[in-house]
Amino acid sequence: MKPPSKKIFFKYCCQATLIIFTGLLSLNLHADPASDKEKFQNFFSKKFSGIDFNEFSNGVYAIDPESRAQWKNIEEFPPYVFAIDEGEKLFKTLFITGRTYADCLPEGGIGIAHSYPRFNIRKNQVVTLAQEINTCRQLNREEPLPWGRGDLALILAYLAFTSRDKEISITIPSSAAEAAYNKGKKLYYSRTGQLNIACAHCHVDNAGKRIRADILSPALGQTSHFPVYRARWGEMGTLHRRFAECSELSRAKAFPLQSEAYRNLEYFLSYMSNGIKANGPGARK
Ligand code: HEC
Repeated sequence: MKPPSKKIFFKYCCQATLIIFTGLLSLNLHADPASDKEKFQNFFSKKFSGIDFNEFSNGVYAIDPESRAQWKNIEEFPPYVFAIDEGEKLFKTLFITGRTYADCLPEGGIGIAHSYPRFNIRKNQVVTLAQEINTCRQLNREEPLPWGRGDLALILAYLAFTSRDKEISITIPSSAAEAAYNKGKKLYYSRTGQLNIACAHCHVDNAGKRIRADILSPALGQTSHFPVYRARWGEMGTLHRRFAECSELSRAKAFPLQSEAYRNLEYFLSYMSNGIKANGPGARK
């Protein structure tokens, strides 16, 4: 793909600048997670009144009728179907130790994706399902998989499928877990990059507005459908790959996939979507 022309970059910059000066729903730095979540969910229910709570799992397609019609067509023959099948095969393949993923994941890995990420008290950090997969591989003397795409995204697609229709349920079991949540929340509301813009500027206060060819999706429900088959990627990709792309959109240096920063961010964002039905894997343009 050609790099964007100066003119387009300028246009993009200015649109983004306009966004910076509009208001921002900020969550009180000292509020507890449960009241943050209530405030966050109420904010979106009010902003997009008339949209069913569970519809927020469909991102832009919940709020823009034109994009929704195109997406409905795509969902008739969803491009992620092959990924679910491939992922299932990979998931059931024996490691050199003769064991499988099912031997090391809770509940054999089935129907658990909606409860990730989790705070692991022993490791004293947020653990994602992607990490659990690679930890399991290493315990079984297999090489870890790259984080953003490929086999890992396929396995996650299968596991997400087994959690479909289960309500996202992220727990914050200790004060150390709450500290990790707060770090994720802080990052979500911090201005970064050359555009000096936060995740929340685009996906909270300006959700529903157009930026270049895209309509900004609401933050609520944003983690429900990952991994996604993205037409622009031409393949399946993970949530952290999308985070990195959004960091770059702000002209900020992306954090490494599965870094502590992105895991805490995922923890915060997933907790905000508690109660929404998981619907991964998904399709996006
Ligand atoms: C300059 C605006 C902008 C900023 C800042 C931004 N994003 Fe995005 N983001 C987009 C656009 C555009 C898309 C694609 C359309 C959509 O789904 O919103 C997107 C998509 C996403 C998606 C996928 C939504 C879906 O339905 O699949 C996630 C998740 C996401 N962003 C998270 C983040 C996070 C986390 C940050 C902060 C690190 C962030 N974004 C910062 C513009 C932005």
